[in-house]
Amino acid sequence: MTNDAQPRTQWLGRWGFVLAATGSAVGLGNVWKFPYMTGEYGGGAFVLVYLACILALGVPVMMTEIALGRRGRGSPIDAIRRVAAESGGASLWSLLGWMAMLCGFMILCFYVVVAGWSFSYLWKMLSGGLAGSSVDDMAAIFGANNESPLNLGFWSTLVTLATMVIVGKGVQAGIEKSVSWMMPGMVVMLLIMIAYGAFSGGFGDALHFLFAFNAGSLSSEGMLAAMGHAFFTLSLASGAILTYGSYLPRNASIGRTTLTVAVADTLVALMAGLAIFPVIFANGMEPGSGPGLIFMSLPLAFQAMPLGTLFGVLFFIMLSMAALTSSISMVEATVSWLTDNKGISRRAAAWGTGIVLWIISTLAMLSFNVGAEWTLAGKHFFGWLDYLTSRWMMPLGGLGMVLLAGFVLKSETLREELGLSPAMHALWLFMVRYVSPLGIVVIFVDALGIATLDFGEQWPWLLLVLAVIAVIGELASPRLKRVLSA
Ligand code: TRP
Repeated sequence: MTNDAQPRTQWLGRWGFVLAATGSAVGLGNVWKFPYMTGEYGGGAFVLVYLACILALGVPVMMTEIALGRRGRGSPIDAIRRVAAESGGASLWSLLGWMAMLCGFMILCFYVVVAGWSFSYLWKMLSGGLAGSSVDDMAAIFGANNESPLNLGFWSTLVTLATMVIVGKGVQAGIEKSVSWMMPGMVVMLLIMIAYGAFSGGFGDALHFLFAFNAGSLSSEGMLAAMGHAFFTLSLASGAILTYGSYLPRNASIGRTTLTVAVADTLVALMAGLAIFPVIFANGMEPGSGPGLIFMSLPLAFQAMPLGTLFGVLFFIMLSMAALTSSISMVEATVSWLTDNKGISRRAAAWGTGIVLWIISTLAMLSFNVGAEWTLAGKHFFGWLDYLTSRWMMPLGGLGMVLLAGFVLKSETLREELGLSPAMHALWLFMVRYVSPLGIVVIFVDALGIATLDFGEQWPWLLLVLAVIAVIGELASPRLKRVLSA
């Protein structure tokens, strides 16, 4: 039984979903977060683990999520409950949907603050507020921008309003059109920055920093961060992709769609790295400067390059737009749940959500000025939102979804939904049953200090353990299915 009987909006064009999912995936995570995390965790090893996580966790989880959304035709909570029920699974599985919805909302609460940085830098570019010639000048400008809650609050409020206006207008009108010109624009801007970087003197160091993979050198903390970021950058386990999947027409190929989105997202992240690190090395800046990294480095490049102001303005327009296409995807789950279940209009749902968002995001914004001292275990509120979602909620949500798909759902359900060839289906099943769950568990075990793992040396053992678990799992899967469905 599928839920085609219920009318639900669908994407307009064949490319609608791909565009919207790419718009959700490509955002501040690629241009702001990926470079600064790579800088913080020391470069190549982080990049390598991140790429491995995209392949081994991101792609299988994204396929699963789209399939769950399309099969259940609803918000994460409703879709997961329906799909689980269809296979006789417990209604408790819908807790996964609740966690995803909460997670997307929590991310949004700090995301609008960072998007606000981008908007404020666009304004600074236009009004000439970025004059300065050294790293110290740029750090001072970034600091001053954060200092006043009124200033910073103005920008995050603006982002909140813009997000709600677009979401209130609905999926097709708001989302599809904006993404189709923004993505190419972003790529062109990054190419210009890379070309500039190639002549600026720091390019060799940047290449070395990003791609000198030495896998043994990453801390457990870094490994957990790389896994969390793989989920974050693909917008997984937080309701966005699942809800977008619920608008996907039956005839679209989930596998091909997922690969397109994952490849585009990864390319944009690597391009952002290649655009930003040459500037950092050429100016003797510290790669581990934290969340302000791109805002302190890129303006230096714009100052020095020909037509810099023009490119700077265009760059921050693109970044702000990329942030908006992501932020709208984070509220979509909540709004679709409210409209489906509470009988209120899309517009009312958007504004109701927006008010709560505004209050919490204002608290997050205060972490950079008056609330800097309000910390718990060394993290301020903004830091906690980021930490809880990326390190814990998304990986755990992803784990739940692959277990649901791998062991609980009837095998025909996903065979129908995914429509893969038998060999590809077997590969997908092997990934969601063993590779993805084990990867997530191993990284948690390592990060929690239950056991210290040295992947550089122990990977043959890990493969062996994986093989043994896979064999046992295949033999025990009927029973496992009964336990998990209970
Ligand atoms: N993927 C987006 C980025 O890289 C962030 C994002 C959008 C997101 N929607 C999400 C992250 C939902 C988690 C959940 O910027």
